[in-house]
Amino acid sequence: MFAKVKSLGLLGIEGYSVDVEADVSQGLPAFDVVGMAGMAVRESRDRVRATIKNCGFTYPVSRITVNLAPADIKKEGSLYDLPLFLSLLKASGQLKADTEDSAFIGELSLTGDIRPVHGVLPMILAARREGIRRVFIPLQNAAEGAVVDGIDVYAAEHITLLLAHLTGNALLTPLEKTEFTPSTEDGIADFADVMGQAVPRRALEIAAAGSHNVLMVGPPGSGKSMLAKRLPSILPNMTREEALVTSAVHSIAGTLTAGKGLLTARPFRSPHHTVSAPGLTGGGAVPRPGEVSLAHNGVLFLDELPEFSRMAMESLRQPLEDEQVTISRASGSLSYPCSFMLVAAMNPCPCGYFGHPTRPCTCSPAASSRYLARVSGPLLDRFDLHVEVPPVEYEQLASHTKAECSADIRARVNAARAVQQERYRQTGIGVNAQLSPSLLKRYCALSDEASALMKTAFDKLDLSARAYDRILKVARTIADLDNSETLQPRHVAEAIQYRTLDRKYWQER
Ligand SMILES: Nc1ncnc2c1ncn2[C@@H]1O[C@H](COP(=O)(O)OP(=O)(O)OP(=O)(O)O)[C@@H](O)[C@H]1O
Ligand SMILES: [Mg+2]
Repeated sequence: MFAKVKSLGLLGIEGYSVDVEADVSQGLPAFDVVGMAGMAVRESRDRVRATIKNCGFTYPVSRITVNLAPADIKKEGSLYDLPLFLSLLKASGQLKADTEDSAFIGELSLTGDIRPVHGVLPMILAARREGIRRVFIPLQNAAEGAVVDGIDVYAAEHITLLLAHLTGNALLTPLEKTEFTPSTEDGIADFADVMGQAVPRRALEIAAAGSHNVLMVGPPGSGKSMLAKRLPSILPNMTREEALVTSAVHSIAGTLTAGKGLLTARPFRSPHHTVSAPGLTGGGAVPRPGEVSLAHNGVLFLDELPEFSRMAMESLRQPLEDEQVTISRASGSLSYPCSFMLVAAMNPCPCGYFGHPTRPCTCSPAASSRYLARVSGPLLDRFDLHVEVPPVEYEQLASHTKAECSADIRARVNAARAVQQERYRQTGIGVNAQLSPSLLKRYCALSDEASALMKTAFDKLDLSARAYDRILKVARTIADLDNSETLQPRHVAEAIQYRTLDRKYWQER
């Protein structure tokens, strides 16, 4: 006998529907799984065989062939246990239920528990797109199931509950949909704790407002890590669309916190400097999103930048430009989105005190050059804002006046983001950092005076064409924070000021 049960699969961040077809016929006992099934899927076979026996059914001692269609896409993961189980029961005549408009995903234990799997959220989104009416998922993934509206999602923790529903004996109720309310990380680490440091504070505000990349350079203990850790408290609210995509990436990677199906705050990822290139950009035998994708619509923070391996640093160049990572395999290619804001911190030399107003630097020029050279020119060029974080003075530290708090800064950042969203509504981009060359011409036109300023800077600072574009984008954000429609010379001048550091440290030695 033959039976077909629907399931779902993932290619990158895109889901698609999979037909699990089982044929049970006479012949020598065998159990074959075909249709580009990966190792994990082939293991399903053994699990399902045991589960069928342990749940009181009879395992058909016949020739069993299971096909996962479409057969040209490689299927990975343990999520096909459940549809495989159901299709075998149906094909052997042990289950009579209408599963026509339903899709099933879940791993099975040998005793019939339905275990959680990765990627539930993007798969349900795909099911809705393909017109599937009901999706059955593991109970532990219920939070993700509650995110998508317009489709009935049922969660069950044991196969008996699911079978009772399918046979109409005891119905499950569909999950209630959760509302989306953006949240912010209030009160954890606040900018009010950072004394002095007016310029780095301002630079981070601009960066958050336009999603620009920032590099902070300064001596030990000046507050670079401290400033970066406070960045989440001033990031603009996430929209529901952004939250859905970012949560989908986290769903695939299995990094959603239990009970939370939808991220409500922008991600802030700070991988350790021992991270590998695939760890950063994604990959692996079973492809998994990397840190750049987990930081989608949020921040990727690299502390102690020169300590990262050259391979890891260079692997960021393409994702930074393309906003997506494509992983190619013999079995096909897939891509993950990665539109993120790169924030990095570093010392200016191995001892950390080059350029310090009072402490002498003890490094040899060769050692300093080697240290700085670890950060390549092309990567340096991709930072829109280069900021020096000077040592804090005693008077500032001992002062009792509180610095401005994160909530006030965030209000300005949110206002500037609203201006950008309004301006770019028809263009397919959301923030100034994403401006393409043609849009740049349209939205960042310079007056004669501002243009003269740019020319001087271009010649004096030996800027690249990319640096020129990036200065314009930053100037656009500064103008947006200033609520100014046109780019004034003062906006351009401030933006240029954030591109002078590479000259001080990298070129003049
Ligand atoms: N501007 C500041 N205001 C208040 N406290 C500060 C400031 N800067 C530094 N500190 C204090 O010094 C500590 C160390 O700062 P932080 O770790 O940010 O330095 P860093 O610049 O990252 O140094 P390193 O280069 O060694 O990594 C902070 O935890 C904080 O207690
Ligand atoms: Mg630090």
